[in-house]
Amino acid sequence: MLLIEMRILGFIILVICWALLGLERATSHADQPISRIAIEMVVVALEDSAYVKASPSVLGLNGETTEWVTLEYSFPNPSTDDWIGVFSPANFSASTCLPENPIVAPPLLCTAPIKYQYANYTNPTYKDNGKGLLKLQVINQRSDFSFALFSGGLSNPKLVAISSTIAFANPNAPVYPRLAQGKMWNEMTVTWTSGYGINEAEPFVEWGPQGGEQKRSPAGTLTFDRKSMCGAPARTVGWRDPGFVHTSFLTELWPNSIYTYKLGHRLFNGTYIWSQAYQFRASPYPGQNSIQRVAIFGDLGKDEADGSNEYRNSQRGSLNTTKQLIKDLKNIDIVFHIGDICYAMGYLSQWDQFTAQIEPIASTVPYMIASGNHERDWPGTGSFYGNTDSGGECGVLAETMFYVPAENRAKFWYSTDYGMFRFCIADTEHDWREGTEQYNFIEHCLASTDRKTQPWLIFLAHRVLGYSSASWYAEQGSFAEPMGRESLQKLWQKYKVDIAIYGHVHNYERTCPIYENTCTNKEKHNYKGTLNGTIHIVAGGGGASLAEFTPLQTSWSIVKDYDYGFVKLTAFDHSNLLFQYKKSRDGKVYDSFRISRDYRDILACTVDSCPSMTMAS
Ligand SMILES: [Fe+2]
Repeated sequence: MLLIEMRILGFIILVICWALLGLERATSHADQPISRIAIEMVVVALEDSAYVKASPSVLGLNGETTEWVTLEYSFPNPSTDDWIGVFSPANFSASTCLPENPIVAPPLLCTAPIKYQYANYTNPTYKDNGKGLLKLQVINQRSDFSFALFSGGLSNPKLVAISSTIAFANPNAPVYPRLAQGKMWNEMTVTWTSGYGINEAEPFVEWGPQGGEQKRSPAGTLTFDRKSMCGAPARTVGWRDPGFVHTSFLTELWPNSIYTYKLGHRLFNGTYIWSQAYQFRASPYPGQNSIQRVAIFGDLGKDEADGSNEYRNSQRGSLNTTKQLIKDLKNIDIVFHIGDICYAMGYLSQWDQFTAQIEPIASTVPYMIASGNHERDWPGTGSFYGNTDSGGECGVLAETMFYVPAENRAKFWYSTDYGMFRFCIADTEHDWREGTEQYNFIEHCLASTDRKTQPWLIFLAHRVLGYSSASWYAEQGSFAEPMGRESLQKLWQKYKVDIAIYGHVHNYERTCPIYENTCTNKEKHNYKGTLNGTIHIVAGGGGASLAEFTPLQTSWSIVKDYDYGFVKLTAFDHSNLLFQYKKSRDGKVYDSFRISRDYRDILACTVDSCPSMTMAS
């Protein structure tokens, strides 16, 4: 009898374990790898015979902003869960802790490493002889570095050895420019990061037509302090001084012309600090008839080329997506990253690393972002969703690190024109329902588009407001964010939005042209004439770990792909648009369709799209 009861008990425990594991799987897709380190548990247990040696001691001697560091280390009591943490600033002692992050039981760290790697990574014999060699990549992010060896795994870290300090030759150098469309069609904005505040130097951009006369435009400077963060970890162990973020407005550009530019700081002693030279092509005039190519994706995240911060292969797609975009950059004119930018989630150092990862793209074409839950959501701060997905950042990092032509960057909705395209970008982390400020913006953005010159009307948002077969949406029975299409579908229909594209769900999906859950067009690849509805796309497979589809087959879902990828729109002229979905693994096209139509097809009345006509003639 006792044996049977024990077996039943054992079975129950097994079921509970399975359930807990499943729960963790379901909720861990967005874990920040650094958050796994129990910073508050660290104890100092320095051992004389243990060491970490880092070389070279000076980085970036030729102006490089990314460098590889070689670590050599030894520990007499090695274990497979020993790890190396990279700290920047190099001094992470408890004496630098601020009251916000009290010392619980000294001695402690009060700041998280900017990255970490296991000591036995690429060193299979470490567990036997305690010796290892590791190559780690570091970027210039305004401070020096130290490398610390810990035993006890991530949950009970014991600090056993620290390297000497290494640093970039000029840690304050201007780095990682990101371009964005300005408020006017002929304006390009350049935003970058440096260690120079307004009391040390004047920031500016030196720019001009390629091979022509170069002039200087001043830049504004923003920064923020720990008190601007809404909670932990952004306000505690994840806090890192953001340095200074500068934005310059390059105006009166000639459409399609190539411009070169350099970031500069004039120190008050008269010396100049320069970045390397970059170039971009100015945007076309709204309505201009020329080939225009747009890349769109959500949820890119960041990944480390040296394999550090790895956690359940959580973001292996990110580097692939970045690589494919860089490879095809000559054929891309503008990029939209529609929310869930780098998943820093309160570990501020990750924003620098993200801007370094996308630098080849963002310094060459406008890199337009939308706000996602991992940038904005925090309880009690006015976000539409009251969860903790931003890790305490509550939108401050996204709003400061990237420029968008919004009236108020704290409300992240805006419109931007690119030749024959009009983009209306919503902010799903703020209320969009009828009667709200955002709803009025969306209606105005759609209604004010002159379709004669800008026939391609695109709606962008982070969360899926239209249609998605993600398992969690299907379980709710809504197949989208609740209150999304109920609120907005009459606007999409009335103003004949061609394509609506979302992130948030980490996969790819395409619907038929649709209105009120009903396909309005039977065609799947060659749309001719009027669409009668809007095609909804999920393009959330930028890089964060993939999301499952429901096994349910709906009538509106045409293509689904459980993989990393991004989409590309090509407007050939006012009558021809090509849509492509490319996988990040090889950059090849795995789904596509065309829209061919004339202006009269846009004007044509469909269900709920025209007011009734007068009988007078
Ligand atoms: Fe999201």
